[in-house]
Amino acid sequence: MYTYILLFFTPAESKNITKIEFLYYKCLTHNVKMTGRSKDAKRSQFFTQKDLAMFVGKLINKSVDNDITVIDPCVGGGAIYQYIREPRIAADVDTSYFPKKLGDVETRDFLQTKRTDYGSGALAVCMNPPFKLGKKQTSGVVDFLNKCDEILNKGEIVVSIASQADRQESKIMQVKPTLHLVKEYIILKAQPFDDKVKNKTVPVNVCVQVWEKQGARQVRPKKYKRKDLNVPFDVKYEHHTWIDNVRFYIRNGPTSQKLLGEVIDKNALRMNNWFENNIVEKGRNKIKLKRVVNGKVVEKSGGTITQGKSGTIMAITTSEKNTNVNNIREKFEDLYKTGVFQDFMKYRKSGTNPSITINEIKRAYLGLLKPFAPSGLVVVDVPDNVLKNYTANETIRFPEDIVVEKRTMVKEQEAKEEVKAKKANAKEEVAVKAVKTRQLLKLKF
Ligand SMILES: C[S@@+](CC[C@H](N)C(=O)[O-])C[C@H]1O[C@@H](n2cnc3c(N)ncnc32)[C@H](O)[C@@H]1O
Repeated sequence: MYTYILLFFTPAESKNITKIEFLYYKCLTHNVKMTGRSKDAKRSQFFTQKDLAMFVGKLINKSVDNDITVIDPCVGGGAIYQYIREPRIAADVDTSYFPKKLGDVETRDFLQTKRTDYGSGALAVCMNPPFKLGKKQTSGVVDFLNKCDEILNKGEIVVSIASQADRQESKIMQVKPTLHLVKEYIILKAQPFDDKVKNKTVPVNVCVQVWEKQGARQVRPKKYKRKDLNVPFDVKYEHHTWIDNVRFYIRNGPTSQKLLGEVIDKNALRMNNWFENNIVEKGRNKIKLKRVVNGKVVEKSGGTITQGKSGTIMAITTSEKNTNVNNIREKFEDLYKTGVFQDFMKYRKSGTNPSITINEIKRAYLGLLKPFAPSGLVVVDVPDNVLKNYTANETIRFPEDIVVEKRTMVKEQEAKEEVKAKKANAKEEVAVKAVKTRQLLKLKF
């Protein structure tokens, strides 16, 4: 009620409110804000189960010195936190699930925090961040990592659970380059998480990433633009009954990894009954296709296409008369056989259905589609028994012998990167100074 009374004050009247009234008002509006945020948080309250939680706890404990304070900024019910040794700090925007027996917890929105909120000593972060934040399309993991980059000092580390979809180029690209991805543990079996909102357990493909704050910039995936991808065909969400120049199809979003990039003939996709299958959705044609194998329609779906918008199969079209369609098709058949698309998407989906984009199809044709890994990244496969077969007292043994790529960053390259970063920082400082001066001028006038 108090909030409403204050909201009705005109600016002139509001000048007359006392300091106590103002503080009370701040308190109330803060709570209103927190309720909004915790509502968002509620959509992403997937709590970690024991095997993975212990694994992550052991990993942070063995990765940082004993005097470093470990923050779990989105602690939930303390699934991971209970395995982190002292000194440690627990926080969450919604602390209602945190058990009293685990001690103190701060009610805090991590994305609004500053380093000084965590004392003056050395820090490390250990977290299972919300994979999605409210209605935002971007990854919550990326937002949390970028906050870590902001608050951590050089040499400090983050151990984080991430969805395997966060390993995609489009996500890694958004993480600040001064946060270096140094190690990834790929959890081979989908892990169960307790969805506290829907009250059910859901399997998610995840990995555990180790990031390190550095001064130098780590390489990020290249952003390909249309003009970089000059190919003799186009890739469209179209069906040959809608436009003439469809030559064949590529399966871009199948139900299994094995079929990703499969080349499909025009007559291998059939509609049982055009009128039944040709649905108009939001003014766009949409079709569901049957699959034909050896001339017979099989049970498995052939895929869907929503004209010009989306779908699980894409048409390869050519407009020039002299284009050699057979050559293009043969190349795509080779790419499919050699598993180029499968390798690119391997362990990069949180669910079971992999997918590739128009640009990725063109990149594959040009030989530019390879799984991205920054120089020096160590990737470790973690089979299920490694997560399961140990007790709390046992020192965890990671299958370090399964290292896929060794850390190879050459000192020289690091030095070059450092110089580059210093230059970029100097530029940034000048820009910040300019903004501050402008703000000062604004305040003065
Ligand atoms: C995926 S759950 C993980 C919880 C716990 N760490 C675990 O592994 O079981 C994500 C947690 O982040 C919290 N959260 C969401 N947005 C947040 C924010 N902006 N700041 C702090 N915590 C947040 C949610 O309340 C939720 O407890």
